[in-house]
Amino acid sequence: MKLFPSSLPTDNEIHVWHIDLDAGRPPDFASVLSRDEIARAERFVFAHHRDRFICGRYAMRCILGDCLGIGGDAVAIAYGPNGKPRLKPGSSGGTHIGFNMAHSEHLALLAIGGVHDIGIDIEILRAPKDIRTFAKSVFSEQENTQFQALASESLVPAFFTCWTQKEAVLKALGTGLTLDANSIHVGLDGADKKIVPPANCGTQTIAVSMIDSAHNTNSIASLAVIGELGRVSHFDYADKAFQQLLSDIVAIEKPIFDGTYKAKMAEKAHQ
Ligand SMILES: CC(C)(COP(=O)(O)OP(=O)(O)OC[C@H]1O[C@@H](n2cnc3c(N)ncnc32)[C@H](O)[C@@H]1OP(=O)(O)O)[C@@H](O)C(=O)NCCC(=O)NCCS
Repeated sequence: MKLFPSSLPTDNEIHVWHIDLDAGRPPDFASVLSRDEIARAERFVFAHHRDRFICGRYAMRCILGDCLGIGGDAVAIAYGPNGKPRLKPGSSGGTHIGFNMAHSEHLALLAIGGVHDIGIDIEILRAPKDIRTFAKSVFSEQENTQFQALASESLVPAFFTCWTQKEAVLKALGTGLTLDANSIHVGLDGADKKIVPPANCGTQTIAVSMIDSAHNTNSIASLAVIGELGRVSHFDYADKAFQQLLSDIVAIEKPIFDGTYKAKMAEKAHQ
């Protein structure tokens, strides 16, 4: 995994940022998140859910802000009819950035692309209650037939392989689950593919790909873009946050080593 992208994603390239939502609430979150986001954070019943939401939004704003050359607090976010966040039209100074975020427990992924509508999904592997019955309601007929024939030990990885690809597609379209998941056919194989969306969702094909989760073997993640998918690069937000912390410390320490500051402190001590 690389530390930082050297530039904005271009053409069909996608940057995927890996974020640990249990990294701790940033001390300056209240000056970075919007009022709406803070109000939403306050509505969480459990503190750890609230802190994870704050961590995710903070990281998302800081990364998008860097892409646009502005502070995270200045990133203007608008919402589509089914709640998909995007940059407010006209707010990005002509830079087009598509993005989408997903989380599962403490893991979050933020996908950023220069061109496309993007959808991303991540799921930590666990066995949903009555997985075979659940699959019947969300898989296409063909997916379901293949799924029901699998041996028990293959059910969980097969389910989440198919499910994350499906949900990534629904998120790229911006419909989320307002569109029936069983109307999208991706199959169980996890291979990169192009699919045709249902008739009422536009005519462009959607490229779908699994995301390499070698750094977190207990999760499965997928990415979907409307149009062509080019190179996918991965970045770790913890490294970026650490670099920011170092530069903040240098900024605080600098005056201490500055002669003028020392002289002023000595002067104060004598008063
Ligand atoms: C989009 C959706 C499938 C996400 O499901 P999920 O598995 O619980 O959550 P994920 O972690 O994968 O994704 C959540 C993120 O997707 C993004 N998102 C929200 N709505 C989205 C949509 N319609 N399309 C794409 N992305 C969306 C947000 O960034 C959200 O993060 P946030 O909760 O921190 O704001 C689900 O919320 C949904 O179907 N929403 C649309 C219908 C709906 O409930 N609308 C009500 C609001 S108008």
